[in-house]
Amino acid sequence: MQGVTLVDHPLVQHKLTLMRDKTTSTAGFRQLLREIALLLTYEVTRDLKLTTKNIETPLSPMESPVLEGKKLVFASILRAGNGLLEGMLDLVPAARVAHIGIYRNPETLEAVEYYFKAPENLADRVVIVVDPMLATANSASAAIEKLKERGARDIRFVCLLAAPEGIERFQRAQPGIPIFTAAIDDYLNDHGYIVPGLGDAGDRLYGTK
Ligand code: PRP
Ligand code: URA
Repeated sequence: MQGVTLVDHPLVQHKLTLMRDKTTSTAGFRQLLREIALLLTYEVTRDLKLTTKNIETPLSPMESPVLEGKKLVFASILRAGNGLLEGMLDLVPAARVAHIGIYRNPETLEAVEYYFKAPENLADRVVIVVDPMLATANSASAAIEKLKERGARDIRFVCLLAAPEGIERFQRAQPGIPIFTAAIDDYLNDHGYIVPGLGDAGDRLYGTK
């Protein structure tokens, strides 16, 4: 599917199966999401530009590769985005973080925004938006609109599960923004839940149901 990178690494798929299992505990779910986040980050950062710097190893001077440009921004859609964020920060501890508070109205499935805080200079940075679930795509799209208003231009979206309907709506609303996901599931049910999915990501992550 154009514009969508399916991260089908065996470790990701194995861990995702454990996360989907309804008998997996809150602690297990949280740990698995953190672990999968490392592997998703590896894929979404694959094309970051490098420059070089001069260093000295214990044996000799050398010109060695380092990331070019300003620090990355991870933009977490609250609440469940924070489960992915933790693992991403394990891999890129110097990244800047944006928090975007959004929840879905359970009746209309429209995104309701309640918080936004982002680093300066978004225009000069790669911004990686993270949320485990792409269902109707209303939340992801609202978050991206907000980031664009603040100047973000180089944006990517990372999730764990996407519904085909969500991908289609996302690509219509946010053309050109690449999606990285560990799975594309079957369909969205009448309540806007991804099937087979994993349930409510926020509730499973924080034990709120
Ligand atoms: C979940 C999930 C996404 C959103 C996806 O959040 O974490 O943000 O739903 O659905 P969408 O693509 O249809 O917008 P939720 O609304 O449950 O909020 P929470 O994380 O605060 O529980
Ligand atoms: N949000 C979730 O947490 N799960 C879904 O299946 C859909 C939206």
